[in-house]
Amino acid sequence: MPVNEKTGEFTPKIVAFCCNWCSYAGADLAGSSRLAYPAEVKIIRVPCSCRVNPMFILRAFEKGADGVIICGCHPGDCHYSTGNYYARRRMTLLFSMLDYLGVESGRTRVEWVSAAEGVKFSTTMNEFAAKIHELGPNVRLEDLRCKNN
Ligand code: FES
Repeated sequence: MPVNEKTGEFTPKIVAFCCNWCSYAGADLAGSSRLAYPAEVKIIRVPCSCRVNPMFILRAFEKGADGVIICGCHPGDCHYSTGNYYARRRMTLLFSMLDYLGVESGRTRVEWVSAAEGVKFSTTMNEFAAKIHELGPNVRLEDLRCKNN
């Protein structure tokens, strides 16, 4: 479990997949507008939300992520026309499967954030991080072979 060395508190690992054309630009806007979001959110830029293979999410959990969020353009605004519709369907299926495996539904989320929505990006990340703090460490899909002890 990742712990803050100074406070001894749980510090979650959060992976945020952001599409290049809207959400990543929204994150950029949040940064340039000096809107804060937790440092524990690690952004991975992808060309489109539909580039996020469900295996990426399973792999993130396996490698110790406590929460995974996918951000893309609003429906109808995808740079590749329909990519986010595919992502939405795919993630709905995956999230129901994760639920079946015992991974709490709050650990995954899909959110549409446009390039002009720096405030929404910051708010979403703050809310998501708060939720993950509340849920605590994720141990369900952790690969125990990676453990040192
Ligand atoms: Fe943003 Fe497709 S380019 S979701």
